[in-house]
Amino acid sequence: MLKITMINGSPKAKDSSSEAALQALETVFSDGPLNDSQITEFDFRKPQLSVQQMEQLAEHDVWVLAFPLYVDGIPSHVLSCMAQLENYFKEKPQPQVTVYCLVNCGFYEGEQCGLALEMVENWCAKSGWQWGQGVGIGAGGMLPAVKNVPVGRGPKKNLGKALETLAGNMGSRTGGENIFITANFPRFAYRFAAEMGWRQQVKANGLKVRDLFLRR
Ligand SMILES: Cc1cc2nc3c(=O)[nH]c(=O)nc-3n(C[C@H](O)[C@H](O)[C@H](O)COP(=O)(O)O)c2cc1C
Repeated sequence: MLKITMINGSPKAKDSSSEAALQALETVFSDGPLNDSQITEFDFRKPQLSVQQMEQLAEHDVWVLAFPLYVDGIPSHVLSCMAQLENYFKEKPQPQVTVYCLVNCGFYEGEQCGLALEMVENWCAKSGWQWGQGVGIGAGGMLPAVKNVPVGRGPKKNLGKALETLAGNMGSRTGGENIFITANFPRFAYRFAAEMGWRQQVKANGLKVRDLFLRR
């Protein structure tokens, strides 16, 4: 039986896109041939991991690391957890772990996540983990809004296909080319919704819409 841990690297306590992506992957698992896998949930919300947490992680065969793209890279709190794991297991028997990764981004194009996936792959090579495969998810901001839409349907059609491929590779702990996807939703409409969201957020934070365009 495969022991999998789903690691949420978003700093948001709830309603993150990373959480929605991991939930979608769990659904694909529970509907597929690997439904006897033992899945646990974990988070890298804080930049610090305890020894106990690192030992717990080492008890799993597969780590699925999901995080938001920050400035084309890995958020610093996630990077800090990764560095701690690398250092801690340097002096110890290396756990035989295969790492898969879901990076989601605000841009419409999932290809934006390519560099971050390469960073995780390089970390695997340096730390001794086996790299599996990554998925770069564009229009990530939409995921929480469509969390009740079945995976593989409507705006989540591409996501379903990518996660099925990933889940298949996870089952055999094999690798594959990184997959880049976006929502099955028009780009202009996604952009329009995102811009409306920023206007609402700027007002909710006591600022004016024109403050969005300030250049200092
Ligand atoms: C500090 C910061 C930097 C970001 N940098 C990028 C970026 O370089 N490219 C991009 O497409 N989105 C970027 N984003 C947007 C996030 O990747 C996006 O909102 C994501 O869906 C958040 O995922 P989460 O809900 O799992 O935290 C950034 C967001 C923040 C807060």
